[in-house]
Amino acid sequence: MRTQVGIVGAGPAGLVLSHLLHLQGIESVVLESHRRDYVEQRIRAGVLEQGTVDLLVESGVGDRLKQEGLVHHGIELRFEGTGHRIDLTELTGGKSITIYAQHEVVKDVIDARLAANGQILFNAEALSLRDIDGNPSIYFTHKGVTQELACDFIAGCDGFHGICRPVIPSSVLRVHERIYPFAWLGILAQVPPASDELIYTYHERGFALLSMRSPEISRLYLQCSPEEDIANWSDDRIWDELRLRMATRDGWVLKDGPVLQKGITPMRSLVAQPMQFGKLFILGDAAHIVPPTGAKGLNLAVSDVRVLTGNMLTAHLESPAILLVDDVDAPPVPKRRQFLSQHSSRRTGLRDEFARSGDFAGRELRRPTF
Ligand code: APR
Repeated sequence: MRTQVGIVGAGPAGLVLSHLLHLQGIESVVLESHRRDYVEQRIRAGVLEQGTVDLLVESGVGDRLKQEGLVHHGIELRFEGTGHRIDLTELTGGKSITIYAQHEVVKDVIDARLAANGQILFNAEALSLRDIDGNPSIYFTHKGVTQELACDFIAGCDGFHGICRPVIPSSVLRVHERIYPFAWLGILAQVPPASDELIYTYHERGFALLSMRSPEISRLYLQCSPEEDIANWSDDRIWDELRLRMATRDGWVLKDGPVLQKGITPMRSLVAQPMQFGKLFILGDAAHIVPPTGAKGLNLAVSDVRVLTGNMLTAHLESPAILLVDDVDAPPVPKRRQFLSQHSSRRTGLRDEFARSGDFAGRELRRPTF
């Protein structure tokens, strides 16, 4: 098999990349190790920033998002029993956030790709990458047969545990990681959200977040210890703790309901540099992981795709000569195009956290040069 861009992973990064490349007349093949229904039902993120909504709508995969997405113009910060509304739209000159589940975005983009005869191979596990700074190819298994996908470029959109990032030589790859001393106990509940907007709560017993996935489905989080065992948390105990932390003086009530899903997520931040090595680009969770605090994961994955498809990949396809630029210490040279992780750390607001962790801070302040 041969294509222009071989993409590993049918998450938001891989699918949106394949879609935007298609709109630019660039061929791609997406290899996804799971079944289609699995990736289309996998509950993950669900808060879309204005930039992500605009990109999905402008590129023609935003119709259902516009119909079913819940647009929020503000959030609430709650502490000492009182809520304080932050008017996002006013403060940002008109931007808002939209509640629309990640797996719905995945469904929409898969539909669009397949409707355009796009190639997405499900149950296709990428095993290894070859010759990534020469004639790249991906070895993968599909229907029990090991095959080779030759391509001009490889996009590693295979998430945090994928095979692509580790292919970048350890002499080149720099990983800045921070493990936080707390975790989040999250639930998905069959109950209409008790608020029209997200509520971020500070309480001496720990943080709590009220979010939602739809007018019928609530998503709530409790800060807990990373050693916590979910088996110790009955649904009643979870609702009691949420009510305790989110209580207000004005008698606001948190309605509870059947818990559909619950789990504990450790908190970590990780940024890998460079995001390009030879003809391999890594995007999304394959390059950076951020805590779900600011709902950045999905939005960062999409912004990586925007940067890469901005004019970078087309330029590379037209004239591969400008590829091997991946040293942030190099003086900025006009027209040299780089795909580095600076933009992700700048966007994730990790600035402060990493500032406390030594060397990364200096690097983060440089603007990418295009
Ligand atoms: N071969 C084929 N597919 C693979 C392989 C492999 N070797 N390894 C991983 N994958 C697939 C996974 O099954 C998954 O569907 O890559 C996909 C990676 O998708 P995501 O993890 O969703 O990553 P990304 O597209 O970067 O999106 C980031 O997802 O996890 C959320 O919070 C995160 O919202 C963020 C978003």
